[in-house]
Amino acid sequence: MKLAFIGIGNVGFALANSLQKKGHEIIIAHDNINSGSVVNAQSKNPSFSLLPIQEAIDKAELVLLAAPFQRNEEILKPLNFNGKTLIDCTNPVGAGISHGLESKISGAEKVQEWATNSYVVKAYTIYGFENLENSEFSNYNTKPVMLIAGNNLQAKQQVELLNKDLGFESLDVGDLPQSLHLEHMTLLWVKMVRRDGHHPNFTWAYLER
Ligand SMILES: NC(=O)c1ccc[n+]([C@@H]2O[C@H](COP(=O)([O-])OP(=O)(O)OC[C@H]3O[C@@H](n4cnc5c(N)ncnc54)[C@H](OP(=O)(O)O)[C@@H]3O)[C@@H](O)[C@H]2O)c1
Repeated sequence: MKLAFIGIGNVGFALANSLQKKGHEIIIAHDNINSGSVVNAQSKNPSFSLLPIQEAIDKAELVLLAAPFQRNEEILKPLNFNGKTLIDCTNPVGAGISHGLESKISGAEKVQEWATNSYVVKAYTIYGFENLENSEFSNYNTKPVMLIAGNNLQAKQQVELLNKDLGFESLDVGDLPQSLHLEHMTLLWVKMVRRDGHHPNFTWAYLER
């Protein structure tokens, strides 16, 4: 698939690089060709192309958002997504690693408000970027799970294909408001790893019988 990335830092690059190796075409969506993260990403993976944000969206089949959450409104409001899927990889994080919207609404629902004419799916936020670079756990007989939420079934099916390529077991946890719970899982992971010293390559698994 042709994938446009708004944000090509820790998370954007990890996903883009892994997906490019699986045969996807990566377009960095950025209006500033001198951006440090763009230059860095293209030096590490010269196959990535670069287009202004709206042009990248027009060319892509699916768009991933991996910018700082506080930049989302200004980035998204002027854009036209033309009914495309937008994967929200961003997290609203407030003071003391709290939920940045005081748990009143998920960041993903705000993204949907700002990115009208898109189908937002929440994904790739429940772990740090380390597990997006490499999802392999060869010493276990199961894969890490990637939980996704969204209102549109077809959009979620597209994300499930990417999950497979990234080596995750995909689990649809329901509609977009469920993202609030995923964002709290993120905060738990961040507190455990970034604050309390748990290993950054720990992931969640889904076991059922
Ligand atoms: N770090 C993690 O482990 C992790 C894990 C899961 C989710 N997240 C979430 O993912 C998001 C990105 O985190 P990160 O650690 O990858 O951040 P990061 O390394 O700082 O990267 C942010 C990216 O967004 C770009 N950006 C900022 N403003 C932009 C604009 N107006 N137009 C286009 N691109 C713009 C930046 O470009 P410039 O270099 O030009 O500023 C950069 O490429 C955050 O919302 C974070 O909460 C992070």
